[in-house]
Amino acid sequence: MNNKQFLSTPLEALPEAISTIWSAPSNIALVKYWGKYGEQLPKNTSLSFTLDTCRTLTKVVFDKSVISNKSKFSIYLDGETAPHFEPKVQTFLDRIIDYVSFLKSYNLTITTSNSFPHSSGIASSASGMAALALCIVDLERQLDPTMTDDFFYQKASFLARLGSGSACRSIQGPLVLWGEHQDMPNSSNLVGTIYKDDVHTDFLSFQDTILLVDKGEKQVSSTVGHDLMNGHAFAKGRFDQAQDNIKKLKSILAKGELDDFIKLVESEALTLHAMMMTSHPYFILLKPNTLNIINKIWEYRKETLSKACFTLDAGANVHFLYPKDEKTQIDGFIKNNLAQYCQNGQYIHDQVGWGAKKM
Ligand code: DP6
Repeated sequence: MNNKQFLSTPLEALPEAISTIWSAPSNIALVKYWGKYGEQLPKNTSLSFTLDTCRTLTKVVFDKSVISNKSKFSIYLDGETAPHFEPKVQTFLDRIIDYVSFLKSYNLTITTSNSFPHSSGIASSASGMAALALCIVDLERQLDPTMTDDFFYQKASFLARLGSGSACRSIQGPLVLWGEHQDMPNSSNLVGTIYKDDVHTDFLSFQDTILLVDKGEKQVSSTVGHDLMNGHAFAKGRFDQAQDNIKKLKSILAKGELDDFIKLVESEALTLHAMMMTSHPYFILLKPNTLNIINKIWEYRKETLSKACFTLDAGANVHFLYPKDEKTQIDGFIKNNLAQYCQNGQYIHDQVGWGAKKM
């Protein structure tokens, strides 16, 4: 696979106006992407669960533009203008324009909303960039109906990656791999690919309750965090560890080894934050209540022999992962023991999902 295959061919007879709507899910990494190079390429392989209910819904209206050398856009979040999104969307459009050059003939009106509460601290960039990329490739497919489904999803993932790395894992499901790995023949640095190896059914119905510890703005952007892996004293060890963890996870997922899953996933989460704490400059995104929740989960596991575990993304919120057959009991545990550590007692139930949908 190479960049060139995603370049668009000149399309004739462009329609005056056309629109499309896509809903794309969020995702949670089991093996984390932290460190990038070149044009949004990962320093190690990552693997994620696609989520189901945390999603971004995006409509794009493409109107033929009078000036035809640059596409212009306006963006609305929940019906209001969203100037804070404009720089990120502009960077995205600048990065993708060679791959979708027909966009130069269009103005884009982007209307977007998230299923999760605004400023919940949940990263909307993965689902947001995925939904936008899907709308754009959908326009291309409408202009060129010979495009195959496989290529459609690959190109959507390729473009989404240029918006936000982890967004390339928010196109399909239920598990998505991104970044080349010697044991994974179809893995690629350019796109996320559906994880095709054996997965025990326990994992396909895994639950993820997102415990909202801190709903504020991120202190450190992901891009700054990734950059701090350049020259990081532990970078090489970390990247090697991630490759090794993918190999281990392959066998864990196939055999349904929940105890080993817990060890690997929690270690990945803590390693991600350990990298932040040991970079220069160093920073801490964990909050006291993140640690309170982690300790409660560990106590709960010891007392009940539950197979629940936690993971984290680049923030203070905790993703509480557990098998579906524990749901009733864990609902009670969350209400009685964990909700007290969440901002305004808020948490969101989600589960493994199957990818983006055209609406
Ligand atoms: C900690 O995809 O948000 O969530 O490529 O700079 O947009 P950019 O970074 P982003 O990084 C996500 C990092 C992570 C781990 C992961 O999702 O794998």
